[in-house]
This record gives sequence, structure tokens and C-alpha cells, in this order.
Amino acid sequence: MEKGEQKHCCGGKCINKFSQLDQILEKYREVKGALIPVLQETQNAYGYLEKEAIQYIAQNMNIPVSQIYGVVTFYSQFHLNPRGKNIIRVCQGTACHVRGAKLILKALEDNLKISAGQTTGDLKFTLETVACIGACGLAPVMMVNDDTHGRLTPEIISDILKKYS
Ligand code: FES
Repeated sequence: MEKGEQKHCCGGKCINKFSQLDQILEKYREVKGALIPVLQETQNAYGYLEKEAIQYIAQNMNIPVSQIYGVVTFYSQFHLNPRGKNIIRVCQGTACHVRGAKLILKALEDNLKISAGQTTGDLKFTLETVACIGACGLAPVMMVNDDTHGRLTPEIISDILKKYS
């Protein structure tokens, strides 16, 4: 194989799909230990790390696929499935817990028809739980993207979600 030539896991069919990934791989070609920045930039470019992208990275960087999965599953910043346009982080920390965080989570799950950790079928929302987002005075709290919503009640959840639909 010529220097700089990319290996393809699909005999070249993925060449267009992964043209952005080719650029990322090229940028880090001479950089040692570049797996994590390659994965970060790939996720930024594609939204998540799909199976074919991981195989493509493995082949091009000569790293076993199993090793890449080890890294991806270790760091919570990496996602193996598509994420929603809006990321909801509902706090389940102590201050929020005593003020009814479980009921807020239930209202979100009922409204979105998904469980915590899942993404809606239309890719509008991903629902995650977190332990304290540093706004305990406003408990119970959730964040939608960069917006903080505090003093929540189950009744106002659907109105909040409508703003992001
Ligand atoms: S416990 Fe929920 S914001 Fe701190």
C-alpha cells in the first residue's frame, strides 16, 4: 500500500460516506497515541460513533476493533448510537431526589415514551440522568441542552418539551 493511501473496510464503497473521517485520519497520521482525538473528532463530525466508522478507524490506524470498543465504552463522552437534537439531563442527585426528581424523570419518560438512556425515534430528544448539575437551590432540576429548568413539577414537563419540539 502506498504511503498516505487509505484502507477501506468495504472495498471503497464507504469512500464518500467517510470522506470527513479520511481528513481526520490524515490529520493524525503521524501523531502517536491519537486514538482519542480521532474518536472525538469523528463523533463531532458524525454525531456518534457508528460501527462502520469504528471499523474504518481500526483498519486505518492498525488498532484492533476490540481495543477501540474498550476505549469508547470506558469514556462516557463517546456514544455508539445516534443522539437526539435535544439532550435532556434530568438531575437525580440528593437535593433533587428529596424534592421529587423521580417523578420528574417519570413525567419525562411518559411524555417522550422512552426510558432514561434512550433517544426518541424521531431523534428529537435524548434523555439522560445525572447526579447534581450544581443548581441544587432550584431542585428538582433538569437541563435541556444549555438551558436550566428548575423547581420542576411533573405537570409542566410537557409544556417545556413543546418549546424544543
Ligand atoms: S442535586 Fe440536583 S442540582 Fe444538585
